[in-house]
Amino acid sequence: MCGIVGYIGSKPVVPILLDGLAKLEYRGYDSAGIAVLTETGIEVEKSVGKLAVLAEKLAHHAPQGTLGIGHTRWATHGRPSDINSHPHTDCAEKFAVVHNGIIENFQKLKEWLAANGHTFRSETDTEVLPHLVEHFYQGDLLAAVREVVKHIEGSYALGIICQDEPDKIVAVRKDSPLVVGLGQGENFIASDIPAILSHTRDTYILNDGEMVLLTANEVKVFDQQGQEINKEVFRVHWDVEAAEKGGYPHFMLKEIHEQPKALRDTLSGRLATDNSRVLLEELQMTPEEVKQIKKIFITACGTAYHAGIVGKYVIEDLARIPVEVDIASEFRYRNPIIDQDTLVVVISQSGETADTLAALREAKNRGARVLAVTNVVGSSVAREANWVIYTWAGPEIAVASTKAYTTQLVVMYLLGLYLAQQRGTLTQEQIREVVTALRELPAQVEAILGREEEIKGFVQKYAHCEDVFFLGRSIDYAVAMEGSLKLKEISYIHAEAYAAGELKHGTLALIVEGILVLALATQMDVFDKMVSNIKEVKARDASVVGITFEGEEELAKSVDEVIYIPRTHKLTSAVLTVVPLQLIAYYVAVARGCDVDKPRNLAKSVTVE
Ligand code: F6R
Repeated sequence: MCGIVGYIGSKPVVPILLDGLAKLEYRGYDSAGIAVLTETGIEVEKSVGKLAVLAEKLAHHAPQGTLGIGHTRWATHGRPSDINSHPHTDCAEKFAVVHNGIIENFQKLKEWLAANGHTFRSETDTEVLPHLVEHFYQGDLLAAVREVVKHIEGSYALGIICQDEPDKIVAVRKDSPLVVGLGQGENFIASDIPAILSHTRDTYILNDGEMVLLTANEVKVFDQQGQEINKEVFRVHWDVEAAEKGGYPHFMLKEIHEQPKALRDTLSGRLATDNSRVLLEELQMTPEEVKQIKKIFITACGTAYHAGIVGKYVIEDLARIPVEVDIASEFRYRNPIIDQDTLVVVISQSGETADTLAALREAKNRGARVLAVTNVVGSSVAREANWVIYTWAGPEIAVASTKAYTTQLVVMYLLGLYLAQQRGTLTQEQIREVVTALRELPAQVEAILGREEEIKGFVQKYAHCEDVFFLGRSIDYAVAMEGSLKLKEISYIHAEAYAAGELKHGTLALIVEGILVLALATQMDVFDKMVSNIKEVKARDASVVGITFEGEEELAKSVDEVIYIPRTHKLTSAVLTVVPLQLIAYYVAVARGCDVDKPRNLAKSVTVE
């Protein structure tokens, strides 16, 4: 996810671009840049780091002009660096482009352009775009961009300017958001409404394939066939803060709803089209290297650690390699038994968590090879590990992690299958079964989100509870841990997760009337045992909310409420069971008046011990 802005009018453009980018920083913040059309041509200023770094640079030297484009980056292709930051330009620096999305066929295009004499400066997919414009340009920017989009595959929202046409911005979108702001003698483009809201409330919300030509006094919109169309003006009635959250009251809820897209992005290009295998090109482990792995350690903190626990069930089941999971702050100090036959997997959304980074270094010092699973391209763990698998969840703003967790789970499945393929531990049919289940997950999460009102409705009854227990067996137990953490961190309710069979060894003494139990029952091989455990807590007058697959109507007889989720493979159930738990935690916290996005005492990224 990145953010783009553009302005054409009569005011100095730099402050307008910087203000717009500040409103889009939630979409990415590893680097930023602008391109301004000045009297002498296009001037580009860009730098790695937060927007403040660019603003500081511009405070000393701001290009003068009234037309420009800007970008705030969340790296995908190419690590965060000055060179990889947008805008990108062509060989002659006559065109500048900002891009949000991924050009999937960039490698082929780059080779073709290079063979035709174009010189590239960055490692990005985006840089092919200005070179393509340069290639097709014959005095008409709009016509050149039309030609470019015929040659590119993937997702994009683009803003493009040309030195020889100093009264125009051309913009186009496919699978990445783009809005046009309509002003008086000035017009805007942006990835999202907050970036333009302080200038205008009148907008065009562009659809896929639509292209726009902006001048200071006019905006023309064209459909995919190049026909000019009449767009309806959408008047924005929200304030800036609400708009940044896409109309959601909190980032956490927005991110819960972003999960179908995040899961699709994480799976994108990683499943064979016929579902016969997973493709993890970034791993590049030889079959010998995979066979050499005698043991896997997964180490992480908090929610990422919980994803690791699911990873243990998944990798052991699929690839038959022993897996140990450790909290990073324990691992680093406890003298773990590691050698060169050990693969250490570190999981970290931010890639900067101090304990996780220290665990990674400890593992490397002891001779292990390290695989990082992270959401942030170019983060410390990504740089220091031997291999990286990115989760592609997009920036996560809310302190309580949601989409980072479910995408980490998806990486655990991909990794488990990858190792299984290399080690030959599964039949073709077994692989196909899990891959097919993975492919269905985004739509299944969408279906669960469709039940939000139902969940919100009954949650109100339990918002006053002071003690909640989460029970499950097998992978359900691992998800119970995450459900319990979600609830306690944002609602401040005491919550604990238990392996359902363990309760009777002590904790059952705490189960009395007024206690809420959330019982996860998706593991069919232990379903009857789970039902017996539910009956044990019901007999002690606890209230019980059960989660199970659609069609398992029997559970309703033993619990107070049931949340049904779509049926999936026993291993992939974790991605689905956690979604109602996220919604329950969210609505309980809201009902209790808690500050959901900024829970007390917590920070998003824990870079201290
Ligand atoms: C809880 C949460 C934290 C993080 C933990 C690790 O919702 O977000 O428990 O999971 O601080 O952070 P990363 O994944 O950035 O290493």
